Formats: sequence, structure tokens, C-alpha cells
Amino acid sequence: MKKVSVEKAFDKFKPESCVFVISVDKNSGPSGMIAGWKMRCSWNVPFYFAVALSKSGHTHTLIEQSKEFVVAVPNKELEKQVEFFGSVSGKDIDKFKVSGIETAPAKFIRSPLLKKATINLECKLYKQIDSGDHIIFIGEILACYINENKKVLLNMGKLKGKRIFKEF
Ligand SMILES: Cc1cc2nc3c(=O)[nH]c(=O)nc-3n(C[C@H](O)[C@H](O)[C@H](O)COP(=O)(O)O)c2cc1C
Repeated sequence: MKKVSVEKAFDKFKPESCVFVISVDKNSGPSGMIAGWKMRCSWNVPFYFAVALSKSGHTHTLIEQSKEFVVAVPNKELEKQVEFFGSVSGKDIDKFKVSGIETAPAKFIRSPLLKKATINLECKLYKQIDSGDHIIFIGEILACYINENKKVLLNMGKLKGKRIFKEF
């Protein structure tokens, strides 16, 4: 066994899936980001799902205010939008408008679903926990949707500085 840095240890978790985390502002304007740090966190009703979002980003401010979010799992068709939502901030740009990503209305919340995503979860904020430079948002899942024949995009890690994705 070899003693390594935290970064090197966490790199061993890859490949891992990532998700869009979407919420809305006061005028129901959507914005969102990509999160690789996510987990299911209850076995039975109520069903909870958690994401860890950086305090330096924009999306956490929307969830703190709207108390809701959508978790959408991408596939190969959404790879470009994953790169985009995961690299620019909603503080500077309207990511939905610029990317033209297709949405569908949610049933119980204002945040939109992603039409082409493999999985969509509608979540109502249950609790938020400070985790240093990130905030863990735990959402109660109100509704789930899948696109039956679509796969899931996996983040394989970086090769020569470029992030590699594969579908599984
Ligand atoms: C594959 C991938 C995984 C990411 N995982 C996370 C994450 O778990 N938490 C986080 O805060 N940022 C993560 N990011 C970075 C954010 O998506 C990125 O900083 C984004 O621009 C923040 O947008 P916002 O400022 O509009 O919230 C990830 C980016 C990528 C491409």
C-alpha cells in the first residue's frame, strides 16, 4: 500500500457519473451547474438526494433562496452542455439561453427538467449543511423521470488536461 495525497486518492473513485443541478431565481429564471459530488442518502420514504456545491459558484445562492432544485443525469448527447454548465458561472451568463438546452416543466417545482437527460429528479430542499468551501444540499425527491433507452455519461478523469467522458 502507498500513502498518497487526498487528490490522488479521490482520483481513484473515477470513472464517476455527474449531474446537472438546476434551480431558479426570483423570476423563475433557471440556472445550473455540473456536480460530480452527489449521492442517494435514504433507503425509504422520504427519499433524499444530496449534492455538494461550491460556495464560490452561483447555483447555491439560487437553491438557498428557492428551496428547490432539479438533478438531471446527462448522456453523450449532452456532453457539450456538461462542459459548458461545468465551466462558466451563472453569475456571468444565462447558461440556458446561450446553450439552448431543451427543458420540460417539472410537476411540483419551478425549476425545469432537462428533456434529453437520462434521469431527472425533482427535489424540495430538506436541509443544507456547511462542508467548508462547499455546501451540501439534501433534497427530498418529489418526482422521478427516466428516458428509457438513454445511457449515463461517466467522467473518466483527465488526459493531457482534457476531461474525458464515456457513456455507460
Ligand atoms: C465533471 C464536473 C464535475 C463537477 N463537480 C462539481 C461539484 O461536485 N461541485 C461543485 O461545486 N462544482 C463542480 N464542478 C464545477 C462547477 O460545475 C462549475 O464551477 C460551474 O461553473 C459552477 O457554475 P455556477 O457558478 O453557475 O454555479 C464540476 C464540473 C465538472 C465539469
